[in-house]
Amino acid sequence: MIGTLGQSIATEGYIMINRRGFFQGLAALGALPLLKFPGRASTAAARATQAWPKDNDPNYWRWIRQQFLIPTDEAYFNTGTLGARPRQVHEAVVNHMREIEQTLAHFDYKPGKPEYFAGYLPQVELRKKAGSVINANEREIALTQNATMGISFIAAGLDLKPGDEVLLTDQEHPSGKGGWDLRAKRQGIVVKKLPIPIPTPNPDVVVKTFAEAITPRTRVIAVPHIASKYGIVLPVKQLCELGRKQGIFTFVDGAQAVGHLYVDVKDIGCDAYATSPHKWLLAPPGNGLLYIREERENDVWPSIASTQWDNHNQADGLFRFMANGTGNLSLLAGLDAALDFHLKIGSKRVEKHDISLADRLREGLREIKGAKIYSSVHPAMAGAIVTYGVEGVTGAQIQDALWEKKKIRVRSQGDEGVRQSVHIYNSAEEIDATLEIVKSLAKK
Ligand SMILES: Cc1ncc(COP(=O)(O)O)c(C=O)c1O
Repeated sequence: MIGTLGQSIATEGYIMINRRGFFQGLAALGALPLLKFPGRASTAAARATQAWPKDNDPNYWRWIRQQFLIPTDEAYFNTGTLGARPRQVHEAVVNHMREIEQTLAHFDYKPGKPEYFAGYLPQVELRKKAGSVINANEREIALTQNATMGISFIAAGLDLKPGDEVLLTDQEHPSGKGGWDLRAKRQGIVVKKLPIPIPTPNPDVVVKTFAEAITPRTRVIAVPHIASKYGIVLPVKQLCELGRKQGIFTFVDGAQAVGHLYVDVKDIGCDAYATSPHKWLLAPPGNGLLYIREERENDVWPSIASTQWDNHNQADGLFRFMANGTGNLSLLAGLDAALDFHLKIGSKRVEKHDISLADRLREGLREIKGAKIYSSVHPAMAGAIVTYGVEGVTGAQIQDALWEKKKIRVRSQGDEGVRQSVHIYNSAEEIDATLEIVKSLAKK
């Protein structure tokens, strides 16, 4: 299993930490730029070696920030594209890879020995841990490479006939619609992309749109949990209820939700759910999770086939969706460490932290004349992704100004401003610095 390799190279981690200490020492002497965000102590390296802080430690989030390798004078707000990885995750991957290289000749296929690659074993313990984050059991979880792969498994794997209808939103990420569009072109299913108003005023508008679009030919409702561009939190529970009542298969694309919101797939009531742990769960890219509710598991065919494609052994569950040929076991070591890191904080605490900081951003933006929030501000639809613009200023200009003035990294959305994803390594100081710059742009 994962844990059997990569746990013993403590000395290397020690060397890394001390190098960071060395650089911080240089910063203190003025050889490197001074810290721009004052809340972060220059003793980051020393703190990184300390034990996990108590829940009520006033420096809790500062300690969390110190676990990331992003320099202390840079603020990272693009988790919606790719999360940062804490030191614990980065080191788990690097150490595991190194140990694999050093001990490759010891690989003898005998039982009880470490594995050297992923793609052929069921990884039960890791699936169990991953499932615990979204309230699924290990049989209901497949380890994939990303959300795209999970979504494509569902879109390709359901039995659908020409004329069968699939309801999506018009806010899908390309990966949220690609698999369905492919089947429309190849096999004549009908894909309807229902309009979501921007900014979205309330959840009822969305539920009503879907309710009115259902016909006797509707077979699937497939929606994002959090839409990519504007970060709208969709009323997935109500939409799944709508589908379930009429025997419609319900799928939720949770690429932006797991590790961001508290997610309970049983409470949502969806038939399937996919996510990309490299975003908000802070795992290395190359990891994905697919959930299929046990009762619907046999409604989906795998579309990558190797040793397990026809394994319907109940105990193995979705193993048949993850035996996809040789993969990188070190990335699973990273996923394992990322799950530990997340579970130690807890999904509810992460959600509370992220949303309260995003609220600070929303409130500040509302007070700036000329600033416009494209994301929903309805409390049930507002998560930690805020997409906003400034009248007469392009997204690229906002993005560049934030970086040039304070090394704040957000993502341009072209004519619709920028997308700012707020996560556990962000602070109130960084939000306030953002608002100052937006204010200065709005004045021009
Ligand atoms: C809502 C949504 N779905 C799917 C994806 C695709 O994720 P990945 O590239 O990790 O497969 C993204 C990526 O940003 C997304 O935001």
